[in-house]
Formats: sequence, C-alpha cells, structure tokens
Amino acid sequence: MDLLQKARDYEEENRIPQEERPAFHVTPPVGWINDPNGFSFYQGKVHLFYQYHPYSTAWGPMHWGHQTSKDFIRWQECAAALAPDEAYDKEGCFSGSAIETEQGHVLVYTGVVKNDDGSGVRQNQCIAVGDGKNYKKSAKCPVITGDMLPEGFSRSDFRDPKIWKDGNVYYLVAGNLDGDGNGQIVLFSSENLYQWKYEGVLAHSEGTIGRMWECPDFFELDGRHILICSPQDMEAQGYEFHSGNNAVYFLGDYEKGSKTFSRGNPVSLDYGLDFYAPQTTVLPDGRRIMIAWMTSWDALFIPEGQKWQGMMTLPRELRVEHGKLMQQPVRELKNYRKNKIFYKNEILEGEKCYNGIRGRMIDFTLTIHAGEFHEFTVDVAKSEEYHTRISIDKDKNIMEIDRTYSGVRRDVACIRRVKLPDCEAGVKLRFIMDRNSVELFVNDGEMAVSTVIYTPLDAEEISLCCDGRAVIDLEKYEIEL
Ligand code: FRU
Repeated sequence: MDLLQKARDYEEENRIPQEERPAFHVTPPVGWINDPNGFSFYQGKVHLFYQYHPYSTAWGPMHWGHQTSKDFIRWQECAAALAPDEAYDKEGCFSGSAIETEQGHVLVYTGVVKNDDGSGVRQNQCIAVGDGKNYKKSAKCPVITGDMLPEGFSRSDFRDPKIWKDGNVYYLVAGNLDGDGNGQIVLFSSENLYQWKYEGVLAHSEGTIGRMWECPDFFELDGRHILICSPQDMEAQGYEFHSGNNAVYFLGDYEKGSKTFSRGNPVSLDYGLDFYAPQTTVLPDGRRIMIAWMTSWDALFIPEGQKWQGMMTLPRELRVEHGKLMQQPVRELKNYRKNKIFYKNEILEGEKCYNGIRGRMIDFTLTIHAGEFHEFTVDVAKSEEYHTRISIDKDKNIMEIDRTYSGVRRDVACIRRVKLPDCEAGVKLRFIMDRNSVELFVNDGEMAVSTVIYTPLDAEEISLCCDGRAVIDLEKYEIEL
C-alpha cells in the first residue's frame, strides 16, 4: 500500500473549507498537526512542513504535511510530503528541518522504529531530497544512528534534527538524553549530508531544566548565538516556567574552533497557554523568522464537530536587543490591515467599549500611558456569555491571561500569570487575533503571550476597564485576506 498516496488522496477528499479554520494561521487541511518542521526558504517561497496525522484529530503515525507561502500570511496547501512507509521510519517520520542545497530541497527528519525485541523504540536521523513538491527518501537512510552517540546516551530519545550550513560544512543539532535521563543537545557535522561525524554535546540541562529536550534550533543573531529547545516535564518556576512542556531559549556565545557553546540561563519564549516546539529559518533579506505549534500537549481540547486540531503561531521576526530576544509579528501582516480605527489620549475611568474597537480577525494595539490606577482589564472575544480576559496589576507588574470563559469544555489550564517589565511608565499591548487565537506582544516584542480560544465567533466585543484613571491610545485594523 502506498501510504503517501493514501494520505494525499485522503486530504484531497476531506479538505476542510478555509472559512471553518483560522484565516492567516496555518492549520491542517484535515486532521491533526503538531510541531512545525522543515521551515525553510526554497526557490522563492517559504516552505513549512509539520507533524501531521490526516486521518483523525488525534496524534497518530506521523507524516509530514506541507504548505508554502510568499508572505507568511496567505498559505498554499501542498500534498503531504512524507509518510512512515520505510523499514527505518515505520513508527513515524518525526520532527526535523530542511535546507536548500545543490541537490535540491533536503529534509532531515527522525525515523522511528521498534526495537527487534519489542522493548521500546530507536530514533535515527534520515534524509529525503525533493523539488519543493515531491520528496524521495535517500537509499542511505538512516544517515545518523544512535550507535554514533557515546556509550550511555539514549538511542530511544534522539530526535528532531535541525540542520544548517557554515562554509562548506553542514551541521546538525538533535535532542537527546544522557545516561542519567537529563536533556542535552548533541552536535554533528558532515561535508556531504550522508556521512556524519559526532562532534559533542552542545548544551546540557545540568539536571535542572526538565527532562528530554525536544526540537532544538541553533543560530547566530545580532552577534550572539541562540539555542532554542523545548524541555519536557519541567516543574513550574516563579512566573518564568509553567509545569510540563516549555519552550525556552538560551543566549550565549559559540566558539567555532572548539565547537563549544557557553550558555546563559533559560528564558521562556512565550508566556501564553499554547506555544511549543518553535523552529526558525533565515530569509534572503536576512530576517530570522520563528514559528511554533500554537497548541499544548498538556491542555489539548477540541470543540465538538471540529475536524482539525492544532495550528501554528503567526511567524515572528526575531532580534536581540539589550541581551533579550525580541519577537514581532512578521511585517507582511501590515499589508492585510484594513479600516483603521484610532483613538489618542483617551481618558479611561471605569469600564468602556470604544466604537469600532471589536472583531476576531484584528491587529489591535492598546497603549496604556502612566496613570493613577492599580488594575487595568481588557476583555476580548466578548459577549454576554464569553470573554478572554487580560488583566494587569500595575503595583505588582503582573499580567494575567484568563480563558476560562472562552468556550473550553475540559478542565485544562486556562490561566497564566506573567511578570511584566516595570509598567509604571506605561505598557503597550499588541493583540493579533485570528478567529481562534490571541497572540499578545508586549512592548514591541519584549514578551509574547499566545493562547488558543474556542469562543463562538459572534463574541467579538472588546471592553476596557480601569479601576482609577488611565490615559490610553487605541489603534485597530481588521485583517482581510
Ligand atoms: C514535540 C515532539 C517531537 C517529536 C514529535 C512527534 O512535540 O514530541 O520531539 O519529533 O513531537 O510528533
């Protein structure tokens, strides 16, 4: 049976109309998606692949789905790219990355197989080469096996290769566990994509940052190096990390000669309820763009009758400023903004709705200037029954996002608290909403807070409330594709 053709036929026959899905965020044509994979620029377009199970809204044997875009806002759905149809990837084509080469568009992914004695699985790294539409797995697969790792390192948790090229040499990082079950990132190099050399451990959790480190990414940005990964099984720490699966970055410096990375402390990449397994790519114009799975393994919920599950964040432009990673929605979003509504130096005392400030597909910026108040609340996706609430405690510099009344019918996490930079002098909140999501960017990208909501689409009011007196600016656009 041709598993790839079967998946392609299935998605063709069961494609869910675009109006039933978010408009400018990537969702599956049908079924389940998780991690972004193979995020790359190839032949004039951005390609995004993802972990994909077309046949149900639950995780299942992993395929790679595929979409392309010229501007990160309008996406073109392409036929599925990989299916678990070889002896070396029978249990799934797990996460990985892509790179443009002279041989074509190269995908590097994790092939999962069962151990011969039935005791668990092995994860190895595999390669497929294609033309942007169809991909052929290499006869040399797997090109990296767990046996190339030092004794004691896990062969069953060894996945999610991220590839890049420096000069004539390809490098790849993958997530792994050491002999004591601590997360680490291992580094490989190759001159031809097929023969790889183990180079060492690039970073290690030192027993303090969760367990397995999934989905690493490693790149230079604004003169520093950044390692991204998604540690599983973390314990909550202050306002920085929540329990379970987190996505973090380490700022550090990389010594190319010795291939050593000295890292700082982990920092959360996003403080909302739904953000995992981010991956980046670099564009010909030099921008480093990040996209992530805007869903959470621990807080999965699906509304009755919905035939798709999982979506991606809006791609974000990254930069390093004052030792901090800044994130802004891709600038291309501005090309789709319509019907500007603008209020300047409004005085807010108590609760108020502003004419024209509403909607579920919007780019909305609220600037709160200094004022005499303790608490400021913004309700979005609001009706009599529903609201998603963002509240700021100015004395404590704490922001809370609460989606309790956002159509969630399971007892999953609905509240997250975030420590804000000092907001005595004011704070700027930019909300990007696309039917089922709220992505909030604080102070031009100092923090990002991403959350999925399940609120019926007619709940589209926005109300503001201040327990004292605040001076505010409002700027809102509808997003139209
Ligand atoms: C992260 C992850 C990856 C793995 C993939 C499987 O969400 O667990 O480590 O490759 O999902 O779908």
